[in-house]
Amino acid sequence: MGQKQAHLNTIAEFLEEDHEEILQRTNRLNDILTNLRYEGKPSLGKNLKEVRETIQFFNQEVIQHVKLEDETIFPFLETHIPKLESVIHLLHAEHEGFKRNLKSFESLVKELEKNSSEPNHGKTLEKIRELGTYLVYSIRNHMQAEDESVYKLIDQELRPNEKQELMKRMKKGS
Ligand SMILES: [Fe+2]
Ligand SMILES: [Fe+2]
Repeated sequence: MGQKQAHLNTIAEFLEEDHEEILQRTNRLNDILTNLRYEGKPSLGKNLKEVRETIQFFNQEVIQHVKLEDETIFPFLETHIPKLESVIHLLHAEHEGFKRNLKSFESLVKELEKNSSEPNHGKTLEKIRELGTYLVYSIRNHMQAEDESVYKLIDQELRPNEKQELMKRMKKGS
């Protein structure tokens, strides 16, 4: 995600482009979860490989996006747009929830990879599908909430010099 800065004009566009990529991966995860349910054992290995790739994307790109928000964007907005304080508090709590659920999801997938030949691996698979579906749902909701609240207000309410300052900090932080 690092090289795209040059052709983007606003901070919100920059962040929304991250969201676009995350949304595509999240939609793909949703498809894989469906495949895990219906394609059965012959495709288990292939589907698990795709799940692992998704987890890797989440651990790298999404965690980096979350870190940018928590460490740079949110503190700056709390100072300059005080009415955002409570929504930012909520969004931050959702980040923490996402990180916890991602870890649990990863351990479930590891457990399944170790035991996929055992007859009762279906239970673990079921848990993976449940938690995976929850992750998909909560990521979509979270990004939509950000698009409609904090991202919108970055462009609407920050002064040009504040935007410049925030942009500078984003570059330092990345
Ligand atoms: Fe976020
Ligand atoms: Fe975000």
